[in-house]
Amino acid sequence: MELDGAVVIVTGAAQNIGRCIALTLAGAGCKVAALDLNGELLNTLVAERITVFACDVADADQASTVVDTVMQAHGRIDMLVNAAGWICSAPLYNLLDRTGGRHDLGLWEKALRLNLTTALVMGACVAEKMIRRRTRGVIINISSVAARGNAGQSAYAAAKAGSNALALSWAKELGGLGIRALAIAPGFIDTSSTHAAMSQERLRDWVGRTALRRLGTPEQVAQCVIFAAENDYLTGTVIELDGGLKL
Ligand SMILES: NC(=O)c1ccc[n+]([C@@H]2O[C@H](COP(=O)([O-])OP(=O)(O)OC[C@H]3O[C@@H](n4cnc5c(N)ncnc54)[C@H](O)[C@@H]3O)[C@@H](O)[C@H]2O)c1
Repeated sequence: MELDGAVVIVTGAAQNIGRCIALTLAGAGCKVAALDLNGELLNTLVAERITVFACDVADADQASTVVDTVMQAHGRIDMLVNAAGWICSAPLYNLLDRTGGRHDLGLWEKALRLNLTTALVMGACVAEKMIRRRTRGVIINISSVAARGNAGQSAYAAAKAGSNALALSWAKELGGLGIRALAIAPGFIDTSSTHAAMSQERLRDWVGRTALRRLGTPEQVAQCVIFAAENDYLTGTVIELDGGLKL
């Protein structure tokens, strides 16, 4: 895909990885629509000539309205990057929790909504436009190495495995129309969300299990998005960008 002039939607674009992807694609000449729940942070992208939409992309009506607006403005959508998500952890059973200890169902539902429903809703809205306009576009889901299974992350791991499965299914379903789909599964990336999700001690332990002995950067994830977008033979795969991490 030629990036210069391509019309792109990035979800979860207010901060960290999604934001870096939006800025990198804009720098490569893409016309970027940035979507996120956090309107205040999103607004700081306006100065970078990125169009912003404060919305909940797990809500089918809100997502559909925004996608229609982008279509009206540009007449086509070439790429969707599903980066919206929520890093979360909870044990399957906590022996020390005197209030019950079983996995929190509220957390389960929120994890699925923010990491998986967001991708399905946006994928369906954008696929409709690509199919109807015969656009040979690409959909990229940002999943996680946690999709391989990670202790203490049942909900997040299941949601991210689902995100991989969506991309692989879409590749098979839409490949005949020239539409590509794939997932990028990062390992531990140096973001405020990573540092908020775990203690420094735990993070040091993860870095120790990473072959390169360091965290990745949002820029390296964005570079991977550029590679995946530009290579027109790449589809139906999960790119693990994890510095050689062993979970
Ligand atoms: N940071 C890491 O180390 C890491 C590693 C692997 C995968 N990931 C994944 O990469 C993606 C980005 O990670 P990050 O570290 O930048 O996370 P982050 O929490 O900093 O940003 C996620 C963004 O998604 C937005 N969002 C969540 N639900 C939404 C919804 N329903 N509608 C609109 N926006 C919504 C949030 O408001 C937030 O701005 C996530 O999907 C995350 O699971 C992150």
